[in-house]
Amino acid sequence: MSKQNLSQPEIEDLVNTLVNSKKYASLVLPKETVRDLILQELPRHKQVKQAVQAVRKKLHNVVAPYLGDPDYLQSEITLTRLYQDKDQDLVKEYCLEILDQHASTKERLAILDEFYPRLFEVTGIPTSILDLACGLHPFGLPWMNLPAATTYFAYDLHQPRINLINAFFKLENRPPNGVYQDILVQPPTQQADVAFFFKEAHRFEQRQHGCNRDFWLALQVKFLLVSLPIASLSGKHDLTDKHRRLVYETIQGFHWEVTEIPFKNELVFCIRK
Ligand SMILES: C[S@@+](CC[C@H](N)C(=O)[O-])C[C@H]1O[C@@H](n2cnc3c(N)ncnc32)[C@H](O)[C@@H]1O
Repeated sequence: MSKQNLSQPEIEDLVNTLVNSKKYASLVLPKETVRDLILQELPRHKQVKQAVQAVRKKLHNVVAPYLGDPDYLQSEITLTRLYQDKDQDLVKEYCLEILDQHASTKERLAILDEFYPRLFEVTGIPTSILDLACGLHPFGLPWMNLPAATTYFAYDLHQPRINLINAFFKLENRPPNGVYQDILVQPPTQQADVAFFFKEAHRFEQRQHGCNRDFWLALQVKFLLVSLPIASLSGKHDLTDKHRRLVYETIQGFHWEVTEIPFKNELVFCIRK
């Protein structure tokens, strides 16, 4: 089918087909994510079929099933039992198990104890946090030592992940501020002291080249903490220079102050907006 023939209902049919496909149905992906990708890819290809193939490829990268997942339902059952037993050590141990299930958080396990003190040394202890494209990172809360009054909003487009995070927040006596939202299509408008945007900016660039600039500009936060991996997943390639360039090119002309906080696998750019 040629793309010129595509009507609005036909685009919606494509959206529904992809969202309900065998690969993605259980994730309940936001329709706006798939629609956004389709509208970007259609003008780039002669045939609808080619555009859909390109959308599938990008979706695979956005969702990144290869980074790993826990068993979401079982994890909620286990967490609930551990909180009933009121054993904080076992809860913390189980949080480690959850963090270990996803490549981004797994890589951070060895530095968890030093990670947050070094970030908050620069930002101060935040009274409000946005965790953007959070993945399983909110399970690092026991290491953050935040005051109970600090608000914590966690955004992701993966519905089972957000459901588990909200179950965890409730067990922690925190409001269930896990938000199921595509933050690129709809950047959060919530104000906060600090935003974490960890290990996702380079993937945003793959989804839509240059998109980080408007996204970072839109965020209503005092400190934007962007982190990027300094090695590829295979560990073979040093990505430090490439990712430094990404950050400094993104904020070119904004005159934002940047403090770099280096860790073993990850470089954090603490941007004072
Ligand atoms: C590479 S993981 C990073 C996880 C976490 N920030 C960390 O460093 O531990 C990327 C996460 O971002 C989510 N994600 C990707 N694009 C997103 C978007 N546009 N809006 C919300 N979440 C998104 C994915 O579902 C996944 O959970």
